Amino acid sequence: MSTTRNRAGQAADRRMSERTEPAAESAAKTVDESRTVMAMQMQPTDANIWGNVHGGAILRLADEAGGAAAIRHSRMRCVTVAMDSMTFKQPVYIGDLLTLTACLTHVGHTSMEVEVRIDAENLRTGEKRHAGTSYLVYVAIDDAGRPTPVPGLIARTDEERERWRAAAERRTRRGGRGSTTEDTEERRGRR
Ligand SMILES: CC(C)(COP(=O)(O)OP(=O)(O)OC[C@H]1O[C@@H](n2cnc3c(N)ncnc32)[C@H](O)[C@@H]1OP(=O)(O)O)[C@@H](O)C(=O)NCCC(=O)NCCS
Repeated sequence: MSTTRNRAGQAADRRMSERTEPAAESAAKTVDESRTVMAMQMQPTDANIWGNVHGGAILRLADEAGGAAAIRHSRMRCVTVAMDSMTFKQPVYIGDLLTLTACLTHVGHTSMEVEVRIDAENLRTGEKRHAGTSYLVYVAIDDAGRPTPVPGLIARTDEERERWRAAAERRTRRGGRGSTTEDTEERRGRR
């Protein structure tokens, strides 16, 4: 019986050490719990007269995918507060299947950063292109529109920990309340 308890205790310790930013200890969630994949075939109404899909149409889908991941993580109303600049590396055409993969990279007190990777596939040839990647920040709000604390994020893999580190740097560059590296380090230690 004590062995069982010890094993359970060790598992709990491991889980704690994996946590990167447990804003709300009891409800911290993994990156996988909110990962969201959206796929949509591009239509003539999404494109210009030459068949290139508008950047704005792609950004709208990125915002929808990112927003869904933020809501899944927080289970609250979320609004977009910032979207980093985005470079379209490859064109997207009418008929392409656009797949948007959204995953949380970082959480603050009330905000969440989401990475949205955008891939295009020519369904007839099977050719796949990485169209671009965008980083969006969402804030969870209550019914009165006030920012509300979100659950912590558990970064389990080296890749997730590296994404967290890069996101913390972007947060510092964006500025605003709670955006300094010192503050982020303080949050890690405190919570
Ligand atoms: C999002 C909103 C509620 C934040 O209000 P606020 O008074 O700035 O709130 P706070 O200063 O308490 O900041 C709340 C969080 O937002 C973050 N934030 C604020 N401005 C930011 C910016 N420009 N970039 C990134 N994060 C930002 C803060 O860092 C803070 O995060 P933290 O709690 O994790 O530390 C408010 O700005 C708003 O309602 N904006 C409109 C959102 C909207 O309608 N979006 C749809 C598209 S227009």
